[in-house]
Amino acid sequence: MQKENSMAESYNIAVIPGDGTGPEVVEEGRKVLNAAADKFNFSLSMTDFDYGGDRYLKTGEVLPANAAEELSKFDAIYLGAIGHPDVKPGILEKGILLKLRFELDQYINLRPVKLYPGVETPLKDKGPKEIDYVVVRENTGGIYTGTGGNSMTGTPQEVAVQSMVYSRFQVERCLRYAFEYARTHGKKARGIGDSNTLGLVGKTNVLTYVFDLWYRAFNEIGEKEYPDVKREYYHVDATCMWMVKSPEWFDILVTTNMFGDIITDLGAITQGGMGIAAGGNINPQGTSMFEPIGGSAPKYTGKGIINPLAAIAAGGMMLDTLGESEAAAAIEKAVMDVTGTKLKSLSAGKMGYSTSEVGDLAAERV
Ligand code: IPM
Ligand code: MN
Repeated sequence: MQKENSMAESYNIAVIPGDGTGPEVVEEGRKVLNAAADKFNFSLSMTDFDYGGDRYLKTGEVLPANAAEELSKFDAIYLGAIGHPDVKPGILEKGILLKLRFELDQYINLRPVKLYPGVETPLKDKGPKEIDYVVVRENTGGIYTGTGGNSMTGTPQEVAVQSMVYSRFQVERCLRYAFEYARTHGKKARGIGDSNTLGLVGKTNVLTYVFDLWYRAFNEIGEKEYPDVKREYYHVDATCMWMVKSPEWFDILVTTNMFGDIITDLGAITQGGMGIAAGGNINPQGTSMFEPIGGSAPKYTGKGIINPLAAIAAGGMMLDTLGESEAAAAIEKAVMDVTGTKLKSLSAGKMGYSTSEVGDLAAERV
């Protein structure tokens, strides 16, 4: 697509640097995003929001009441990390990250599992050719929505209930996104296979209600609307096994919120760990939020040794979703060049470069 200077697109980005090493990695992400904007002739206007642990400890407020409404006015959100050592686990995760995903209806969590050149994987005899698939995690439903409760608390008869609830509507919209994504980004579409395949990851043998719904909707939608996309079904436990033994079997996977959460941590470690794994919380009709999957890594905070590549890659995913696919591809290529020719390791403190030097290396290459 040719773009005229006078018509240069401009995007309003909300930035939430967040806690721990979040601000450090976001800083490098900004560097690379701005380099991409210069090169590919668009502009980014970034507005920072101080949501996170420090703000909560100072004000007692996790998130202002109008936060989601405020953020929904932006074209996209760029997030560093949420999680603070002085705040009880769950408060910030549920009160900021999950709340924003739910309120902004970011019903897709897109998590590529891709081993970049030069990156060490714990999987024996596997390389970038074998580890290259994408998990589409349902992101606003299921057992993570907080449906349930406790009764008779503190007594030996105490009962806790946490329900996995899915509506046909939630299942269908997630599946349609996944089929569409498989059609446009599957292995055939990317020129590395002869079919585009969508695999449903579930547990139809035990969770017979919820996965019966997923399984029926999957086959109905697939047959009617996406006959060109090959369909597979895998149980989640077996999926974990094959993610280690035969990751090359996978193309695009779609699954529920909880299973997606779990298998993408396994996926992340096979692609080199939290320093490199990026994800997008996507509302295809609204404001999406992009983040490195790793946490706030408090023990590395402020040392300039954390790996910013996951945040940089998340910035690339953000540009792709905004429609700047050339710039997005340039960022991914830059990241691959940095992992392939520069970094000694992806681990904090062992990269052979500081956080900001890695940002410079990526920005130069864009
Ligand atoms: C993730 C995280 C979050 C999740 C937590 C922090 C709420 O683990 O993004 O995968 O479970 O979704
Ligand atoms: Mn997780």
